[in-house]
Amino acid sequence: MAFCALLCRLLLVAATAEAKWIVPGARWRDTEGNLVNAHAGCVTVDKESGKFFLFGEYKVQGQVEGGGVSVYSSENLATWEHHGMALVPIEGHPYISPSHIIQRPKVVYSEGTSKYHMWWHADNSTYGWLLQGFAQADNITGPYSFVDATAPLGNWSQDFGLFTDYKDGKAYALYSNGDRKEGRDVYLTSYNNDITALDKVVHRFDKYDLEAPTIIQTEKSYFALMSHKTGYRPNNVVAFRADSLSGPWSQPFIVAPLNTRTFNSQSGFSLRIKGTKQTTYLYLGDQWDSNSLWESRYIWLPMDINENKKSLEVLWHDVYDLNIKTGEWKPIKGTTYQATSATTAGSAFAQEATFTDTGVILTGIYGNDSTVTFSGIEGSGKPQWVSFYYQNTDDMGFGDQPGGSPDRIGGSWQLRRIASVVVNGDTQNVETLYQRDTHKGIILSAPLQLMLNKGRDNTITIGGLSNGFDVKGADIEKIVVYPPEG
Ligand SMILES: *[C@@H]1O[C@H](CO)[C@@H](O)[C@H](O)[C@H]1NC(C)=O
Ligand SMILES: *[C@@H]1O[C@H](CO)[C@@H](O)[C@H](O)[C@H]1NC(C)=O
Ligand SMILES: *[C@@H]1O[C@H](CO)[C@@H](O)[C@H](O)[C@H]1NC(C)=O
Ligand SMILES: *[C@@H]1O[C@H](CO)[C@@H](O)[C@H](O)[C@H]1NC(C)=O
Repeated sequence: MAFCALLCRLLLVAATAEAKWIVPGARWRDTEGNLVNAHAGCVTVDKESGKFFLFGEYKVQGQVEGGGVSVYSSENLATWEHHGMALVPIEGHPYISPSHIIQRPKVVYSEGTSKYHMWWHADNSTYGWLLQGFAQADNITGPYSFVDATAPLGNWSQDFGLFTDYKDGKAYALYSNGDRKEGRDVYLTSYNNDITALDKVVHRFDKYDLEAPTIIQTEKSYFALMSHKTGYRPNNVVAFRADSLSGPWSQPFIVAPLNTRTFNSQSGFSLRIKGTKQTTYLYLGDQWDSNSLWESRYIWLPMDINENKKSLEVLWHDVYDLNIKTGEWKPIKGTTYQATSATTAGSAFAQEATFTDTGVILTGIYGNDSTVTFSGIEGSGKPQWVSFYYQNTDDMGFGDQPGGSPDRIGGSWQLRRIASVVVNGDTQNVETLYQRDTHKGIILSAPLQLMLNKGRDNTITIGGLSNGFDVKGADIEKIVVYPPEG
C-alpha cells in the first residue's frame, strides 16, 4: 500500500509537472509538485524570452497575510516552474515586514529605468494606510528591492491593478480607494513614462463600491472588470466598456451566468494572448478559500468578447487546451456518467431535481456509509482529470456580521463541503474534493486528478468528509472523465 501510494503520487507529480491543459479550480502543482502559490497577482510577459511570469501573494498553511510575493514562469500557462520569492518580507521593515499587508502585486518593465517595477497595495495590518508599494529589480524574477510606499496623488488605495495599453505601451494604475464613505470609488490613473510615479487621474468609477479591478483591451474596446465587496465570498463580477480609457464608460454589466458568483471566483487580472491565428482573452480570477487561504485556487477562463454587441462573457470549461503560439483554445471532450447510472448506499438517494440533465440529483451523501458509486468507468491507466458536477445549497450568509446576508440571516456560514472520492474501493487513498457553495438550483463543477485502471470497469465512490462542522458531501449531478493529457 505504502509503495502504491508513493508510486501513484510520483505519477501524479510527473503528470502535473508537464501540464498542457488549463484546469480551472484544480490543485495546480508546479514542476516540483508543490501547490502553485501566487494569489491575487498578475502574469507579466517577458519581452526577451516571451515567457509568462506569474507573481502573487505567497501563503503557507495558517497564514493570512505577510508571506511576500512569489514568482513562477511558464511557456504555456499550464506548466509552472517556481523561482522562489520575488519580494521577501523583511523583519522590522517599516513597510514590508511580515506583519504588513502586501497584496495584489503587479509587475511591469520600465523602458526608462531598464528595470522591472513591482507595485502593490501596501498597508499596515489594520488597513490604516492605504498606500501603494513600489520595488525594483534588474531581473524579472527579482529579488525586488523596496523603493517606497506612497499615497497615489494624495489619496487612498486599496485593491490594486495595473494595466498596460498594448497600442502605445503606456501604463495605468487601477485602485479602489477603500471602504469609508468618502471613498468607494475606483481610480484609473496614468503613470509617468518611467512608471516610477503616478501622473494624472484618467477616470474615476464613482461610488460603485467595487474592488479587484483589471482592464482587458481589444482592438476597439477597453473592458474594466471588477468585483463587488464581499470579502472572500465570491459575487457577480461586472464589466464596464469604453472606446477610450478616459471614457465615456458604459454601465456595469454582469459577466458570468447569474448565481454562479462568477463560477465562484473574484476578478483581479486578465491577459490578452495575440497568437498567429487568433487573439484570446483570459480572465484570471481567484477562488478564495477562507477556511484555508493557502489552498485557494485559480479560475482562469477564456472570455467571449463581441465588439459589435459590446459584450463580454466569461465562459466555463472544465478542461481546455490553449495554444500560446496560435492563440487558439479548445475545450477537451470528456465522457459523462449521469446520476441515473450511479448506485447509492446508506441514506444517499436520487431526488427529483428539474434543473439537472436527468431530472434527478444524488443527495444525502454523508460520511463513509452514505455514498454514491459510479461504475463501469473507462480509464487509461494514466492520471486523468475528473470533474464532479455538484450542488451545495448551504448558502453563503454573512454570519453575524452587520449588513445582512444574501441567502441566510444570522447563523454561521461555510464556503464549502468536502467530499471523499475513492477509486476502485481503495480506501487507503482517499481524495478530498472541495465543493464550494453554489446556490439552490445552480450546478458547478470541481476537478480532481485521478488514477483509473486501464479498461472499462473502474468505480468512483463519493462520500462525505468533515469540513469542521459536518461530514456531508454536496449533491452530485454527474461526473465527466477526461482523457489523459498528451
Ligand atoms: C495602522 O495605521 C493607522 C493610521 O496610521 C493607525 O491608526 C493604526 O493604529 C495602525 N494599525 C496598527 C496595527 O498599527
Ligand atoms: C535572472 O533570472 C534567471 C531566471 O531565474 C536566472 O537564470 C539568472 O541567473 C538571473 N540573472 C541575474 C543577473 O540574477
Ligand atoms: C480622494 O478620493 C475622494 C473620493 O474619490 C475624492 O473625493 C477626493 O477628491 C480625492 N482626493 C484627492 C487629493 O485626490
Ligand atoms: C467511517 O466514519 C466513521 C464515523 O465518522 C469513523 O469512525 C470511521 O473510522 C470511518 N471508517 C473508515 C473506514 O474510514
